[in-house]
Amino acid sequence: MGVEPGKRGEVMDKKKIIELLNQDLEGEHGAIIQYLIHAYSMGEGEMSCEIEALAREEMRHLDFLAEVIVELGGVPSMKRGKMRMGGKAVTDWMSNDVLLEGDAIKQYKEHIKAISGPKIKRLLRRILSDEESHRGDFQHFVDKAKKEGAKDVRGKRRDKVTKTLNWGIEHEYTVILQYLLQSYLTPNEEASEELQDQAINEMQHLGWLAEELIDGGGSPKIEHAKVDRSTKTADMLKADIKIEKKVTDAYDRAAKEVKEKDLKQLLRRIRDHEIYHTEVFTDLLKEEKE
Ligand SMILES: [Fe+2]
Ligand SMILES: [Fe+2]
Ligand SMILES: [Fe+2]
Repeated sequence: MGVEPGKRGEVMDKKKIIELLNQDLEGEHGAIIQYLIHAYSMGEGEMSCEIEALAREEMRHLDFLAEVIVELGGVPSMKRGKMRMGGKAVTDWMSNDVLLEGDAIKQYKEHIKAISGPKIKRLLRRILSDEESHRGDFQHFVDKAKKEGAKDVRGKRRDKVTKTLNWGIEHEYTVILQYLLQSYLTPNEEASEELQDQAINEMQHLGWLAEELIDGGGSPKIEHAKVDRSTKTADMLKADIKIEKKVTDAYDRAAKEVKEKDLKQLLRRIRDHEIYHTEVFTDLLKEEKE
């Protein structure tokens, strides 16, 4: 379809829209990780709970954007957008979060202007309004952190236990991205729903491991490994079963090795969830093949 003369610039092709929405999605991804690291690193409390709730709102944004991208025939990007890390004091972190919200607000405003589709515009406006509210929340947290004397509670412990926990975090982060991406791409609705559910369960694991690590005097490194890029549902599920089996063994081994009772229990609980994931994916694969 050609662009009418004189209207050049008003009609944006799908590819360009997908590109802009993927930029937004990457921004949400960066925000989620930045906020989670901040929430975990200040230790348990009201403020960290509130920040985790904001991270969950960003996850919802990511989900909305990914769905639109898929509707337009695109593939959601799993790249992580720019983060504003750094700063020693919690007040600095909160200021960085204010700035990151400012970046998002600026970008959403530009994209709302650039994209003409009313449905997408409406969605972006809704997200924009959340970001404006988040920026206010973080401004408030700058003061609150100062008043409460919030501190970085991470420690410098580096041993086999912290290595195991960081390894677990890397695994969980990887499968969160993998299962989300697959849930958007598979045409199998049941598989899509299960993949979303298991991704949420993996998010829980990531949070538990990060908190455990910090409680034990360590510092979480939230990075991920390679995400499987299969395009056929059966191949996705095969890759998932493979990684779940591998991680089940690893958690089982780690649970036997660690001395701390609580940590042993936590690793066993996560291991049991991973066994459940393997079973769910195995059933789905059987149905997919039939
Ligand atoms: Fe957002
Ligand atoms: Fe997990
Ligand atoms: Fe799992």
